[in-house]
Amino acid sequence: MQALGIDIGGSGIKAAPVNLATGALVRDRYRIPTPQPSTPRAVVEVVKRLTAHFQWRGRVGITFPGVVRHGVLLSAANMHKGWIGVDAPKAFRRATKGPVTVLNDADAAGLAEMTLGAGKRARGVVLVLTFGTGIGSALFVDGRLVPNTELGHVELRGRDAELRASERAREDGNLSWVRWAQRVDEFLHHLEMLFSPDLFIIGGGASKKADKFLPLLTVNAKVVPARLRNEAGIVGAALATRSR
Ligand code: BGC
Repeated sequence: MQALGIDIGGSGIKAAPVNLATGALVRDRYRIPTPQPSTPRAVVEVVKRLTAHFQWRGRVGITFPGVVRHGVLLSAANMHKGWIGVDAPKAFRRATKGPVTVLNDADAAGLAEMTLGAGKRARGVVLVLTFGTGIGSALFVDGRLVPNTELGHVELRGRDAELRASERAREDGNLSWVRWAQRVDEFLHHLEMLFSPDLFIIGGGASKKADKFLPLLTVNAKVVPARLRNEAGIVGAALATRSR
């Protein structure tokens, strides 16, 4: 069985059909830059192009970088605010030929990591964090997802944590790996105080350079890089269609 996974991000929208038994991409992924402004109408149009590219008919899983409660979008930190209040599966259904499942992007990446990647068989409390334009979080308790934790928005030094410690903050602020690692470490200590996790899984662009900052982190919990890298969102979106 296969599903089309679509990962909506602040800069790109990526898709590929996924084998649900193995999590493998069945075809090369296809990426279209996120339209600016990223209004619902413009993004739905991109989803339509992606579905057409793969001549897809069947289940579609879609991630969105915001709170997604039972399909309804409740926030859109790095996307057009016109998304707030939208029933996302209904909106996307106009662009796809099959049923649609929509979930938070970090929850999707977390689902993929827990099923096939660094969190496979991990019990206890696991926090998957994705560092990109923002910081996404996915909390698992004995393998079960607690959705929409939005920990990138906890306040650190009076500001959203993601404004200080995301991948974008590192790039825009021209921060050295050491300075950025200090900010990430401060963030992780805060989360450790709140959740006492057994394991942190670090995903997003920086996970490719894990050797540059993971050794600098000082939290008690084990910290490992994500394994699925760029594809975690696509794979997780596809996997989420199984629970329809
Ligand atoms: C959003 C989250 C999202 C994260 C990563 C945050 O700004 O609020 O919903 O998971 O960025 O994209």
